[in-house]
Amino acid sequence: MTTTPQTMGQQFGRRSWAEPWKIKMVEPLTMIDRAGRERALTEAGFNTFLLKSDDVYIDLLTDSGTSAMSDRQWAGMMLGDEAYAGSRNFYHLEEAIQTYYGYKYIVPTHQGRGAEHLISQTVIKKGQYVPGNMYFTTTRLHQELAGGIFVDVIIDEAHDPINLHPFKGNIDLNKVEALIKREGADKIAYISVAGTVNMAGGQPVSMANIKALRELCDKHGIKIFLDATRMMENAFFIQEREEGYADKTIAQILKEFCSYTDGAWMSAKKDHLVNIGGWLAVNDWDIFEEIRNLVVVYEGLHTYGGLAGRDMEALAIGIAEAVKDDHIRSRIGQVRYLGELLTDWNVPIMMPVGGHAIFLDAKRFYPHLPQSVFPAQTLAAELYLDSGIRSMERGVVSAGRDPHTGDHYYPKLELTRLTIPRRVYTQAHMDVVAESVKAVFDQRESTRGLKMVYEPKYLRFFQARFERL
Ligand SMILES: Cc1ncc(COP(=O)(O)O)c(C=O)c1O
Repeated sequence: MTTTPQTMGQQFGRRSWAEPWKIKMVEPLTMIDRAGRERALTEAGFNTFLLKSDDVYIDLLTDSGTSAMSDRQWAGMMLGDEAYAGSRNFYHLEEAIQTYYGYKYIVPTHQGRGAEHLISQTVIKKGQYVPGNMYFTTTRLHQELAGGIFVDVIIDEAHDPINLHPFKGNIDLNKVEALIKREGADKIAYISVAGTVNMAGGQPVSMANIKALRELCDKHGIKIFLDATRMMENAFFIQEREEGYADKTIAQILKEFCSYTDGAWMSAKKDHLVNIGGWLAVNDWDIFEEIRNLVVVYEGLHTYGGLAGRDMEALAIGIAEAVKDDHIRSRIGQVRYLGELLTDWNVPIMMPVGGHAIFLDAKRFYPHLPQSVFPAQTLAAELYLDSGIRSMERGVVSAGRDPHTGDHYYPKLELTRLTIPRRVYTQAHMDVVAESVKAVFDQRESTRGLKMVYEPKYLRFFQARFERL
């Protein structure tokens, strides 16, 4: 018996959507055979960060710096004003950030961690606490290098991969209040809020939560700094899920959210549709003065901060493109499509599906593997072997070690991240990815774990090496 083919929208019982762009230039992909992938993975020490990209078929390692730029952005690259000081592209960038985020003072940085370094060195005093809605690898490291002590104050639901809370990125205000009570407000450097929360699966923070946090912080004179890396995606979830925001644009929601914070750092390689770049923005002149001075030491003059003029132009144009409602809708729609396929086949993933990636829940995927044999790292390796798809670990390897005890951090979440670059892959690529995940899932019982045979001191997930057990 033959069945009538259905469009994807029909299969999911909704009207189909499509990307708000068409393809003008393509980059050919190749796929090496299984023996070649075995060789490549062994040479890479079972760490997908150490694979050569030529050996990768579909690259879902990260959404960072992997976006396709538009024809407008490429045209903007030709308008680079490569003056050492006062490049006109800097002023375009400054204006775009002021317009869409609403902050007053801006310095560019080469990427997000450059900005994290500057803000941490400027506002953290040794021994102060930095409460945040779950850690991010580079963010926490810079906070610790500046002498800060990170404290996780995200709501408990965020640590549970099957809890369907609509705003799993929310800050637990009781946890913040308890810390203030115990340590005193002057022992808190600032509250570090990320929207969305990468390590929690790209989960959003609600507007009500940031507003309430603002009120609490105002009572105690504590500043709030935002990791705005995927804040446009966060705005989409507010528009979709929070009462009173359905008729507001992403741009309006973004600006309102930022208005409850004192500044932000940004890895422009994500939301902003560029391959390199970042910035730091604050509203306080004194903090800005310090940052503007420090940026010269570590990044470059305050009107380029490690970026070429052409990069700043592409970034300024990218901000205006990325904040458009139809762009974000299709971006998150594609991520969700992959998530819907996998949940339909009972593959365990972090729920609800977040903004930038599907996070496979390695603890439920491989219930027979304890965290000490790195199940999420193992899953990333198996997926690559199956089909040349590159993903990455977000579990015990990424969590690193407690600097005081030297023990592994054992995070509750042990995840393998399939990160979707913006405007790069098609629905057909998502189908191939889903089928490969399913194939690896079907062989799960015979999979063994890994042992770590080389461990770098900082951010070990980038360069650690493993062997099969
Ligand atoms: C939430 C978040 N913050 C900060 C960063 C650091 O940015 P970059 O990689 O540009 O240094 C990243 C990068 O992955 C991120 O996801």
